[in-house]
Amino acid sequence: MSSRGPAVPRSPSLDRLPEYPLGDLPARRAAVEARGIRVLNLGPGDADLLPPPRVVERLREVVLESRYSRYGFQRGLPEFREEAAGWMERRFGVVADPYEELHPLIGSKEGLAHLLLGCLGPGDVAILPDPGFHSYEGAVIMAGAEPHLVRLSPENGYRLDPEALPGGVVDRARILLLNYPNNPTAASVELDYFQRIVEFCREKGIGLIHDHAYSEIAFDGYRPPSVLQVPGAEEVAVELHSLSKTYNMTGWRLGWAVGNRRFIRNLVEVKSLVDTGPPLAIQAAGLEALRSPEAWMRENVELFRRRRDVGVQAFRDAGFRLQVPRATIYLWVAVPGGWSSAEFCRRALNEVGVVLLPGSSFGAGGEGYFRAALTVDEPELQEAAERLAGLEPAS
Ligand SMILES: Cc1ncc(COP(=O)(O)O)c(C=O)c1O
Repeated sequence: MSSRGPAVPRSPSLDRLPEYPLGDLPARRAAVEARGIRVLNLGPGDADLLPPPRVVERLREVVLESRYSRYGFQRGLPEFREEAAGWMERRFGVVADPYEELHPLIGSKEGLAHLLLGCLGPGDVAILPDPGFHSYEGAVIMAGAEPHLVRLSPENGYRLDPEALPGGVVDRARILLLNYPNNPTAASVELDYFQRIVEFCREKGIGLIHDHAYSEIAFDGYRPPSVLQVPGAEEVAVELHSLSKTYNMTGWRLGWAVGNRRFIRNLVEVKSLVDTGPPLAIQAAGLEALRSPEAWMRENVELFRRRRDVGVQAFRDAGFRLQVPRATIYLWVAVPGGWSSAEFCRRALNEVGVVLLPGSSFGAGGEGYFRAALTVDEPELQEAAERLAGLEPAS
């Protein structure tokens, strides 16, 4: 045996990673199903819905053409880049060069991790929301940098207040990462909030990453703004977009990064050595999603709006406390007294077969809440709330 230790090495960063809460979920769910319980899955943000029909049809066409079976490399399909740039302009009035200021991603989760690898190093700090999407903290740690978690609170609408950051953190911070509409809290903001943030980042010399995975899932006339709509934002900001939630294409793995060209260049340098971009066939089909008729978009959002209304009412009728979200596919619900969020969610699955995510799995700042995803139909949302009402109170 070598004196150097085991032959298979392990990065010390792995020991600093937060736990990934969805990892053992399939096994825990299977164990409950094996007991004959029909599980209602309100866990991952992965809806039970189909992409626009034209997208599926286009994929069937392009898989028969050899052009789409080749490597995409980082340039990918020019038509996808052009379509995504056109989408940004139609939706937000944001003009971006499709080659220098926009880059296709294998979903925004992939893009985020590689972007942070390309932007951060030892000694750097990245400011992250707590609670926040699971990947943020892990991606910062894998980049060798230090996450600084900022507690978001319901009292200020879960908005991260840059003015409240300690000076020492601001001095070392290289990145501020935000996500509105927000996972998991479903909080949303107006453009004036982004104006404040951009001003702060420009003044302090901090790069801004805005994760816009829920840009199109909004209700009651609310239209989530893009950070890039703020004049001068392109000097400091990059935004991540995804087809996953907007077009029910979670498993297709397609999105794009858009914004400051130095951000894009860092990302391309990393990705060139790690992957060869989203499959060309997926890009070819995905661009059809970006051309979806207004009517398809309206109907899809309307479906989530109905689920939201039924879900909010059902959870309230069952005795839970929650706000009506005006965006995302999530309900952010207060855990009834006496339980930790992890314990409540564990019992919800084991005893009544309802998958929920504990607020604490999104960071300590999420304690006291659970997240219920609107990923099942209205009768199932109703049934989930009724089953949860039947849980015996904590002793
Ligand atoms: C805030 C946020 N960002 C990114 C993602 C990942 O999206 P994608 O499927 O584009 O990788 C999710 C998925 O749930 C999310 O909630």
